[in-house]
Amino acid sequence: MDRVKDKITLITGAAQGIGLATARLFIAEGATVILADLNADAGSAAAEELGEKAHFMPLDVSNADQWDQVVGDIVATHGRLDILVNNAGILATGKRQTIEDTDLEQWRAIQTVNVEGVFLGCQNAVRHMKETGGAIVNLSSVAAIIGTPQLIAYGASKAAVRQMTKSVAIHCTLRKYPIRCNSVHPDPIRTAMGDELMTMYDGDLKSGWDNIENRIPIGTPGEPIDIANSVLFLASDEARHMTGSELVIDGGLTA
Ligand code: NAI
Repeated sequence: MDRVKDKITLITGAAQGIGLATARLFIAEGATVILADLNADAGSAAAEELGEKAHFMPLDVSNADQWDQVVGDIVATHGRLDILVNNAGILATGKRQTIEDTDLEQWRAIQTVNVEGVFLGCQNAVRHMKETGGAIVNLSSVAAIIGTPQLIAYGASKAAVRQMTKSVAIHCTLRKYPIRCNSVHPDPIRTAMGDELMTMYDGDLKSGWDNIENRIPIGTPGEPIDIANSVLFLASDEARHMTGSELVIDGGLTA
């Protein structure tokens, strides 16, 4: 308990899935959490359910002006930003995503949210955390580590997040900013995005998950709480000696 007590935490894409599980865990561990998401209805409902330490703010992570507004408002209201979890992301745009199928429009749509969204988040966080200190955790994927022929644009975007994490981490250490920046790399997780992934691979949801179960050495795909636990660890002082690190939580998939 209290591993992030009184930490002012911004989690993007927190209306559902991994982001929502992370928001719930951080609140249980004493944080004040700002849930930010494109989906205002689900985000507001989630914040209401989580109680008085949860607040919802609308944010499209690919919009630079909205980032300025959201982080500026948080600092004006709470005095600082301690933790940023760059969790918002998209898998696809409803089309096949092999090297042969992907058009430039689809490629750019995925990079805009997954790469530019994390870039803007890191930039805003560094600006506001460099005096007061803080931790940034970026959601990457096993798709940043192994080839994913069905996900050419998504895999490249998550590799960019992995690399950006290390550059931000080293920049902060060189400048002596008390900011750590790390990434997490989940296997397929049981969320709306996980379901979308299974239908892309297989067409059929149930046989998609069955196939993944057979491929994951530990025998089952991860749940959102498995990723939330790793985000909590990286954001907390327990990981004070970690920066630029990548935490792979994949049931042995890439081992
Ligand atoms: P999800 O699709 O269940 O939830 C994503 C959330 O992000 C939604 O609430 C959505 O409204 C929000 N969002 C999307 N675009 C946004 C934007 N432009 N601005 C603000 N919010 C936006 O996804 P899930 O599964 O919870 O994934 C969270 C993160 O974990 C993503 O970055 C994803 O790439 C990563 N991840 C997920 C895996 C999985 O199998 N579920 C595996 C590996 C990584």
